[in-house]
Amino acid sequence: MLLQVPRGTKDILPQEITTWQEFEVKSRQVFCLYNYFEIRTPIFENIALFKRSLGDSTDIVQKQMFVIKQGKDKFVLRPEGTASIARAYLENNLGFGTKLRKLFYIGPMFRAERPQKGRLRQFHHIGAEAIGLSSHNLDIELIEISDYLLQTLGISKYKFIINSLGCHNDKLKFGILLKKTLLKHKKNLCGECKLRLSRNVFRVLDCKNEECRKITNALKFDHSYLCDDCKTHFDKVLEGVNKFNIDYEVREQLVRGLDYYSGVVFEIIHPELGAQDALGAGGRYDHLFKELSNKEIGAAGFAFGMERLMLVSPMKSSPKQLSGYIITLGREATDRGLDMLREIRRAGISCDFNYSDSSLKSKLKEANKLGARFVILIGEDEINKKRVTIRYMEESKQEEIEFEGVVNFLKEAIN
Ligand code: HAM
Repeated sequence: MLLQVPRGTKDILPQEITTWQEFEVKSRQVFCLYNYFEIRTPIFENIALFKRSLGDSTDIVQKQMFVIKQGKDKFVLRPEGTASIARAYLENNLGFGTKLRKLFYIGPMFRAERPQKGRLRQFHHIGAEAIGLSSHNLDIELIEISDYLLQTLGISKYKFIINSLGCHNDKLKFGILLKKTLLKHKKNLCGECKLRLSRNVFRVLDCKNEECRKITNALKFDHSYLCDDCKTHFDKVLEGVNKFNIDYEVREQLVRGLDYYSGVVFEIIHPELGAQDALGAGGRYDHLFKELSNKEIGAAGFAFGMERLMLVSPMKSSPKQLSGYIITLGREATDRGLDMLREIRRAGISCDFNYSDSSLKSKLKEANKLGARFVILIGEDEINKKRVTIRYMEESKQEEIEFEGVVNFLKEAIN
């Protein structure tokens, strides 16, 4: 039986890769405009990092980690980027000499989830983390950059859902309030959520069980748990966002599925995504650094799922075009053609050579299939005349050119 890719993973094929590359190039350009620098961290990390950062009782840590055992060590294929970036920031002293370190990343993440549309086991994040400050202006900038990124990728019809969990103390108060309310519904909650009530009440809000969802969707909160500073911070963020003409809604139930969040959190949803409707999400996680290093460091960020962005983006790039394609007939022509191939490539022009023994007709067919713009034909006649025949593949015409003129001809023709 033919072996297949593991469920929930995908090959990104040559005909799709240009779209991926364009998404990456455009994202890098946007990050550059906002002064974010790229960082690449390992694909796997020590298991302790994610347990401590994301929270022991989160779905990711409980059910979705791909664990690698190597001797006495336990590693995890990274399920997200924030924890790794926080580790890298601390380990490499990236805060040295600067109040704010702005970083971005593009790369694969791994979660052992049940695959469905928009939910994969290996997917890709485009993410940003701004570390060093707790300013509301940074929260506003992150929302604005997310919005600009989506626009740059041609995406519309999305909506921001925004909430504030408040500082660490406020979040504790919010938790108590939530627990008090949920205890009234305890008998209708699933077994796991009954446990979550005492372990980590926020995780009840992530439950996929229908009964639990009915209960949590109907919950009404106000922001009474926010202290004055957090209330002012939240108001300022919303004031800033109001200026951008961004479609948003404040939703008190939005707590996010990872424990490290505090302060302002947000999610960006899209109506065409179906059940997995989040294009991306983010927020503030000031308390994470306290957890990892006992230092007070403000930080916030976001990440988009690239596969989901692609599902709703109209941007599709056509495969890269091959400029030249050399077809030769006879030994001498082949030798001359191979020299020419090297010359053309070294002049910065894409070119390939048909190495097969097939007929001229099938070689031309191959050139067509590859989307070559110009075929350079060299046969016995051409060798005698020291000229090549150039066939224009997009028009039905051809012309003869001296051997020495081929590189210049291609240079001019492809510009
Ligand atoms: P997250 O909400 O877990 O947040 O993931 C961010 C986005 O990744 C989601 O909104 C979704 O588009 C995509 N995503 C998540 N899981 C899958 C999956 N199984 N298949 C396909 N796409 C998926 C984080 O990971 C945080 N680290 C975001 C962040 C950065 N917060 C602060 N900084």
